[in-house]
Amino acid sequence: MALDDYELLQDVVLRAMRLDLRLYKREQMERRLRAFGTQRGYASLAVLGEALAPDRALQSQLLSYLTIHVSEFFRDPRFFDDLRLLLPQLPQPPHTVRAWSAGCSIGAEPYSLAMLLEEERPGQHYQILATDIDERSLDLARRGVYREEDLRQVDPLRRTRYFSPDGKGYRIRPDLQQEITFRHHDLLRDPYPDEQDLVLFRNVAIYFTEQAKEQVMQRITRSLAPGGILMVGSTEAILRPQQIGLRQVRPFFFARA
Ligand SMILES: C[S@@+](CC[C@H](N)C(=O)[O-])C[C@H]1O[C@@H](n2cnc3c(N)ncnc32)[C@H](O)[C@@H]1O
Repeated sequence: MALDDYELLQDVVLRAMRLDLRLYKREQMERRLRAFGTQRGYASLAVLGEALAPDRALQSQLLSYLTIHVSEFFRDPRFFDDLRLLLPQLPQPPHTVRAWSAGCSIGAEPYSLAMLLEEERPGQHYQILATDIDERSLDLARRGVYREEDLRQVDPLRRTRYFSPDGKGYRIRPDLQQEITFRHHDLLRDPYPDEQDLVLFRNVAIYFTEQAKEQVMQRITRSLAPGGILMVGSTEAILRPQQIGLRQVRPFFFARA
């Protein structure tokens, strides 16, 4: 059977950008691809594909367009309230707490976690790995300067403690930045880290196919240390946690069995 124009473009995207669109829901991706092409004056997906293959800048723009980067500090605050209650379960010093923010976008999530660890585990060393597929988001995360609207959920005390004014924005405290490693990582392709005490995986899997989501969940489970905690978002529901070696400890929180 002949490939349609979406499938042909999928092929170009896979070869040129190493992004496997077969693992994302077609309806949403196709809509975004067509909108991206129309905005930039490409008459069809085929024409977009021809332009895309040799053009690195266009590829990077497309990747940023396809992925959704909405995030903010302490997004869904009650999740962070629950996380705070579970932090005492992490291994005690001198153990270094290892945490992974998978799909960290602009960095608000890993920085929020760093603040919680500073407050709840004072003096304990921690290392946060923060990864995303989108380089543009990672650049913003590494820069660490945020807008007022990104800080909606940050109370005045934390604003003073963790940020300094920077033009119209707010710059995160440099020593907090040093505890976080921002790295490019594709959850659908790259090897996963291991022995993590805590993994935050929220609002990322929304456009993954069900099968891809299941595989990612299994791999994330294996990246946890025994007893390690996984915090997911409402788009990452885990229907049968025990089948993949997880035990539910609160809504949206699981521990590796
Ligand atoms: C909506 S943001 C969520 C950010 C943060 N976790 C939060 O809840 O605020 C989703 C992020 O997932 C990233 N993403 C999408 N597909 C990915 C993949 N295959 N591997 C890694 N990150 C991916 C996007 O680039 C985007 O930055």
